[in-house]
Amino acid sequence: MPLMEPYRVKVVEPIPILTRADREAAMARAGYNPFNLRADEITIDLLSDSGTGALSAAQQAAGAIGDETYAGSASWFRFREVVDELTGYPHIFPVHQGRAAERILFNALLEPGQLCVSNTHFDTTRANVLLAGGKPVDLPCAAAADLDSDHPFKGDIDLDALRAALEGPESVGVVVMTITNNGGGGQPVSMANLTAVRDLCREHGVPFFLDAARFAENAWLVVQREPGWSDKTPAEVARAAFELADGAVASLKKDAIAHIGGFLALRDPELAAQCELVLIATEGFRTYGGLAGRDLEMLAQGLREVVDPRYLAARAAATRYLGDLIKAAGVSIVEPAGIHALYLNAGRLLTHLPPAQYPGHALATELYLAGGIRCAELGTLYLGEEDENGVLLKAAPYELVRLAIPRRVYTQSHLEYVAEVVGEIAKNPERVPGYRMVSAPKLLRHFNCRVEPI
Ligand code: F0G
Repeated sequence: MPLMEPYRVKVVEPIPILTRADREAAMARAGYNPFNLRADEITIDLLSDSGTGALSAAQQAAGAIGDETYAGSASWFRFREVVDELTGYPHIFPVHQGRAAERILFNALLEPGQLCVSNTHFDTTRANVLLAGGKPVDLPCAAAADLDSDHPFKGDIDLDALRAALEGPESVGVVVMTITNNGGGGQPVSMANLTAVRDLCREHGVPFFLDAARFAENAWLVVQREPGWSDKTPAEVARAAFELADGAVASLKKDAIAHIGGFLALRDPELAAQCELVLIATEGFRTYGGLAGRDLEMLAQGLREVVDPRYLAARAAATRYLGDLIKAAGVSIVEPAGIHALYLNAGRLLTHLPPAQYPGHALATELYLAGGIRCAELGTLYLGEEDENGVLLKAAPYELVRLAIPRRVYTQSHLEYVAEVVGEIAKNPERVPGYRMVSAPKLLRHFNCRVEPI
């Protein structure tokens, strides 16, 4: 059986196709920052896989019976049943999106100055740790540093470093494992690593949480790659992962294939009571948490659909297919290909651009100018540091560009088009200009800065 998508298309939406001159004008207006583009200027949008998936007919139908009762809505009970079956956690709180769960959890768990230790924090997770007065510490495993190796679980945490942190002088408030590791090239975390983290956390009496935004995609890669798990279903693997932890925060804009939503789920009744108060004060009553009844219904249905092995196999194959085409065109990716995104090695392609000229950003911008493809860099524009005169103090470790793949949205020919555009750029990489900063806010500058070609 070929790895074709186990669904067909019933509703379509036209995509804008602009001339190069129109795209140049749009980028100039946007200050060469893809976050400032308008949807009607974009042909293929690979900026994020978050909230950008296509709903199924069953999700739309579920939305239509959404119960909008303020407290005790029937939709909440259906949502809770699905999350309970998936995770096994006794306390489940809906939230409007993942970062709300992060804020509530870290404010409840972290004392000022305490460490939050992770394989890699996603950027909002890091920001919420800092806002709660904590200190985020990333301890990716050694294999993650080699972008070219095909190590199957580069999302793992470095267990020796974790032990050292737990035994070190600074107090650790919580350990958070991000599955899959979005900030670390979309790489999966093995069940063996999660089990070892659970054991270390137990030994030291430190709570262990999952950031489970892509729990189903992580489970699929465990089924494919980890000895001892190949005969399990993705739902069984996911459940086993949740069982190892004391709780989870999850953005459901990814693996619930819905446009909005998230949850905070945990075991400890006292922590749950503390979180519930903040939830009610800031998100909404415990049976809706900032979501409409129709959202809860669509999320519940999406959570059932996402663990279908045929869906996950087709999605993983599509990402791998695009990765193979891009490599054939001469551009390196972070190996091995994950599922939600491909990470292009712009530093290796644009060797004529020093980090101070933002090679990752230059490639992302060129993908738009050449083909209307929107994406964003994970390189020196995002992670670098400059002094007040704009002189680079610290470059990012790698100059990457993330092509995030929305769920059930683009076809094989869309992906082939993306690879063609990448291939055209790769024929003459030295033509891609570098960029210089024009204006930037102090924090989260990649969202708001303006740059210009050199
Ligand atoms: N954790 C991870 C691993 C994420 O990737 C995200 C969001 C969040 C938490 C926050 O969830 O957006 O629902 O508040 N990632 C998106 C992305 C934005 O494009 O990778 P949220």
